[in-house]
Amino acid sequence: MTHEPHPLDHPADPFEVARTAASDIARLTGVERHDVAVTLGSGWGRAAELIGETVATIPATEVTGFSRPALEGHVGTLRSVTTPDGRHVLVIGARTHYYEGHGVRRVVHSVRTAAATGAKQMILTNGAGGIKESWSPGQPVLISDQINLTGDSPLEGATFIDMTDLYSARLREVAREVDASLDEGVYCQFRGPQYETPAEVQMAKAIGGHIVGMSTALEAIAARQAGMEVLGFSLITNLAAGISPTPLSHAEVIEAGKAAEARISQLLADVIGRIR
Ligand code: HPA
Repeated sequence: MTHEPHPLDHPADPFEVARTAASDIARLTGVERHDVAVTLGSGWGRAAELIGETVATIPATEVTGFSRPALEGHVGTLRSVTTPDGRHVLVIGARTHYYEGHGVRRVVHSVRTAAATGAKQMILTNGAGGIKESWSPGQPVLISDQINLTGDSPLEGATFIDMTDLYSARLREVAREVDASLDEGVYCQFRGPQYETPAEVQMAKAIGGHIVGMSTALEAIAARQAGMEVLGFSLITNLAAGISPTPLSHAEVIEAGKAAEARISQLLADVIGRIR
């Protein structure tokens, strides 16, 4: 079997590929530059229509470097949405997960592309497991910081980048203006795709984690590298393994996402409406 090389395969320059992707987006949407970008994880999918008017929806596969979605429930489209006050929001419904095994360049390509479209803020959303016992499934929380347990990084070579205040305190404040009850926690990214063992969840808790998931941390690093302000939301779809007395199932995760979707999508749209 022959394999077509992927545009992001070595020795390509991933930033150059992101610039090509950004010009694909400009051509296909007719929107030259975007102000804000948001990645919609499980449960957050209805936000696009609440943010404003959709100018264009394009299949991610038409944009250089994007892969086909691996999972049902992850929409493989990019949308350009204009807010009522005229800002352009790039809505990314096509996430490549680290566990797909295509390498970290493809995982963060959407974030680098968002930066290349001009986006100054990157909003990352996901569905994740909750460690805090006060949390319940269906609850959205803010990400305050992260622990990257993948053992990998989107940074190549001696690229030393400060990770203090990775998740913008300013943007978290904006989110709390919309919903003062939003709690926050530290997001731990595991490689997956298996859910964590109860022992791994206890480890995450012991090292300061409150949320366990399989996306976002690598993307946040790439967003910081690109100089974007980062805001992160997790929908707690389930209590993490061993915190919950019952075993986890993917169906349960999808179900919790669906049940919370309308409410959290509105929250996200309202926050985007307030970002300046
Ligand atoms: N762990 C990791 N990823 C997840 C979980 C979880 O409990 N729930 C949804 N995504």
